[in-house]
Amino acid sequence: MRTHYCGDLRATDIDQTVTLFGWVDRRRDHGGVIFIDLRDRTGLAQIVSDPERTPDSYPMAEDVRNEYVVKIVGRVYQRPPASLNPKLPTGEVEIYADTIEVLNTVRKQLPFQVSLADNETVREDLRLKYRYLDLRRERMNHNIRLRHAVVKAIRRFLEDQQGFIEVETPVLTRSTPEGARDYILPSRVNPGQWFALPQSPQLFKQLLMVSGFDRYYQIARCFRDEDLRADRQPEFTQLDMEMSFMSQEEIIQLNEDLVCHIFKEIKGIDLPRPFPRLTYAEAMDRYGSDRPDTRYGLELVDVSDVVQDSKFKVFSGAVKSGGIVKILPIPNGNDHISNVRIKPGGDLFNEATDAGAKGLAYIRVRDDMVIDTIGAIKDNLTNEQKQEILNRTGAQPGHLLLFAAADTTTVNKTLDRLRQVVAKELELVDTDAINLLWVTEFPMFEWNADEKRYEALHHPFTAPYPDDQADLPTARAQAYDIVFNGFEIGGGSLRIYQSELQTKAFETIGLSDEEAQEKFGFLLEAFEYGTPPHGGIAYGLDRLVMLLAGEESIRDAIAFPKTQQARCLLTQAPSTVDNAQLQELHVASTHKPKKQED
Ligand code: AMO
Repeated sequence: MRTHYCGDLRATDIDQTVTLFGWVDRRRDHGGVIFIDLRDRTGLAQIVSDPERTPDSYPMAEDVRNEYVVKIVGRVYQRPPASLNPKLPTGEVEIYADTIEVLNTVRKQLPFQVSLADNETVREDLRLKYRYLDLRRERMNHNIRLRHAVVKAIRRFLEDQQGFIEVETPVLTRSTPEGARDYILPSRVNPGQWFALPQSPQLFKQLLMVSGFDRYYQIARCFRDEDLRADRQPEFTQLDMEMSFMSQEEIIQLNEDLVCHIFKEIKGIDLPRPFPRLTYAEAMDRYGSDRPDTRYGLELVDVSDVVQDSKFKVFSGAVKSGGIVKILPIPNGNDHISNVRIKPGGDLFNEATDAGAKGLAYIRVRDDMVIDTIGAIKDNLTNEQKQEILNRTGAQPGHLLLFAAADTTTVNKTLDRLRQVVAKELELVDTDAINLLWVTEFPMFEWNADEKRYEALHHPFTAPYPDDQADLPTARAQAYDIVFNGFEIGGGSLRIYQSELQTKAFETIGLSDEEAQEKFGFLLEAFEYGTPPHGGIAYGLDRLVMLLAGEESIRDAIAFPKTQQARCLLTQAPSTVDNAQLQELHVASTHKPKKQED
């Protein structure tokens, strides 16, 4: 029987005989005395064996190797002063092993060192292929435990303090409208028909409100077949919530309570309340982003009105064709950023063009506020225009002003990107800061110029502000996103709960009556039977854990994640299946594998 976990041993256990189980983290042979760091999920304990004091265990101590699984019975002693280790919670004691029993050995060369003492970086593909070993390592072990602690804090708060109940919703379902591509599954018993995996439990949670559950939550798996980034996975987990009879303000307050509870439980931090709020328009104007990182300044400045009549065609032309001109002012930018980087071929130029900009204009402010820039700008802006630009940006000698001139979306995208790159490079980000904020008053719809139609910015069930209902295409939505240090960790809204308004919203996005009936008839019908006003929110749990763990990749917050190519390197999924299986499902693959090159 195990008497203790390794990491729990303390000076109070001295003189006790203990039985420990675990993995050999490291084994060191100090000329006759063998030290074994024994590891279990709680941490490390130092085991000692030498031929004189523990002759029975010594032969085994000589034989064990890293990652062997062992049982050790021994007596706890105070460590001699020279070997005290204040960095280790168990660093005051060591265990002289009476017996060491090997329960299992390692029969193959380890693909990488698991040892806690070993902090070398391991290639991610190896980590993912041997995920079970990677999860043995301290960092991932810690992250997965942190994830558990976050979920536990959420459940305790929502269930015990706020009266929420968890309800599971189907995974085999119809397409849900969150705007990404669906993962679909053929039905064997319904030939030619397909299930979609849910992009979110959105429709079901609204139906649960119609059913009167009043406060629902779920730790829900969601599936989206979209381009992957460091903070996206094809299969991810939401903390999904929905409530009836609550105003937007009440929902926001309850969620601030929840987020504060999580931070208190996990980090021991009391977050300041209320969380700051920005309207969507303000966030786009000041930061060019609806998820601004406010841990640093570098706010954007709109100078469209200043340059709209200038002779510099790049600026005036952009404004005349409905676009804008904005500046990213960088204090001391002249010391850090050379012209080579701003001009064609330079890294900042490339960032800008990747975001859709055609180029990157600049002004450098020299001593005595002398302006240094290309001739085309210097010669084509009046002194008043130059002065107004300096005034508005608060420029001082040393300032570098980067300009973007294009349609509004491109300008914001470009400067948002540059703002983030520059902040990182100039070390302006306060990495200890925790900036949580709400973004509110999103537009309900945005114009898709390619498809020449409106699209729902969130999803088409989002309720407009009552004052804006008359003109739906320009309406502001009663929607709110929560942003943590520049990451969108959650988003939600009040919902439309009257079928006439829902029909109008569908019309706005060009969904005909028949299509709406076909796709969402069940929801529209439910709205006919007494639907309470309701609203909700969903958090990206993996993203939240990633940030709480101080990680930069969402994969480090998930036990068994997919790669950027949406593959599982451990199980080699997705994989091919037998033709017989396809036939049973009434499908055939049209994929033609590329011929193997000789
Ligand atoms: P939304 O689509 O904004 O809203 O998703 C909610 C949150 O889920 C996280 N998220 C993701 N995390 C990892 N990988 C992904 N591919 C991914 N996609 C989204 C984000 C996001 O803020 N039904 C609505 C919520 C509601 O209105 O109640 C919804 O799903 O952190």
